[in-house]
Amino acid sequence: MSTRAVTAMPLEPTPSTLAGHTWCEDLISINDLGPSGVTAVLELAALMKSRPTAFRGALGGKQIVMFFEKPSLRTRLTFEAGIASLGGHAFFVDQTGSRIDARESLSDIAHNLERWVDGVVLRTFAHSTVTGMAQHASIPVINALSDLEHPCQALADYLTLQENFGDLGNVKLAYVGDGNNVAHSLILAAACAGSTIRVATPQGYEPNAEILKQAKKIGATTGANIQLLNDPVKAVSGVDAIYTDVWASMGQESEAAQRKQVFGGFQVNDKLFAQTAPHAIFMHCLPAHRGEEVAAETIDSSRSVVFDQAENRLHVQKAIMLMLLGGIATDSSQIRNGASTSSRTSKKPRRVHA
Ligand code: CP
Ligand code: NVA
Repeated sequence: MSTRAVTAMPLEPTPSTLAGHTWCEDLISINDLGPSGVTAVLELAALMKSRPTAFRGALGGKQIVMFFEKPSLRTRLTFEAGIASLGGHAFFVDQTGSRIDARESLSDIAHNLERWVDGVVLRTFAHSTVTGMAQHASIPVINALSDLEHPCQALADYLTLQENFGDLGNVKLAYVGDGNNVAHSLILAAACAGSTIRVATPQGYEPNAEILKQAKKIGATTGANIQLLNDPVKAVSGVDAIYTDVWASMGQESEAAQRKQVFGGFQVNDKLFAQTAPHAIFMHCLPAHRGEEVAAETIDSSRSVVFDQAENRLHVQKAIMLMLLGGIATDSSQIRNGASTSSRTSKKPRRVHA
């Protein structure tokens, strides 16, 4: 997890949460942002969503490389579209044939990349590949999903919840299914937002204990309520939103049949939905498996916001890149009533390569 930080120099006018904010230098975990960082990302993302043309060219001249060890539709295309819409350039490296560090050390790769490009986006199996890249590279590193976390997804999801319900402090989300990377980032995001999150998993598939420890520590400062259960019906009682994800994540394909047995009672369907608040929405990071973790009747209903979540990937990732890569709004006349964004004035110091 990256801990280095720089103080951004805000331009005027500036959203309240961006002014003087101290940014993390990488986005590896929601924990890198903390409560004020999550609030700031959501605020900037909402602004960029409402006034996209104000930010055209904000990453002009910036080059970002994307290494993906796993397949992707949403993450790859929202990063590529987002970078292009901000005037930057993305290079995509298909790394699905071998691990990023199979041919040379992460440290050597990092010291090459920092000489050529302005940022790195990584989708990996091992979380240590993302933390290792962040440790060695002097340029910002963004986690586009690892086996441990999916922070960009959770930020898009909390933006979606904010759009639907307003104050996140009052939102109750139930996550039903596997205690996986998406669950981990949602738990940390809920902790940062001061929300209630109930996580219902089969026994033995609970979220990572260290993530829970971090979330409870953050939650003690924000008033978040984090509950673990093994009963999906209890978990969804009266909630504002139910979230689920696949039962077998990328890399767990060989466990898929066995997991189908274990998770059978954790399907999100209209019967389970009947236990929620009447206004409740259905959430899923996608890709979804209809008939497994979610019934078609639920994901294809009017209560489903899955495509809003997918859209919001674009907006939050644009906000994240602007924060980490130091872009500025290029047409201040369009953001008179809202804001410009903060500008990063320094990057991690260039390392002296041993
Ligand atoms: N939700 C998500 O990350 O989708 P992709 O795997 O298609 O990128
Ligand atoms: N938990 C899933 C999320 C996909 C976006 C996986 O890791 O495959």
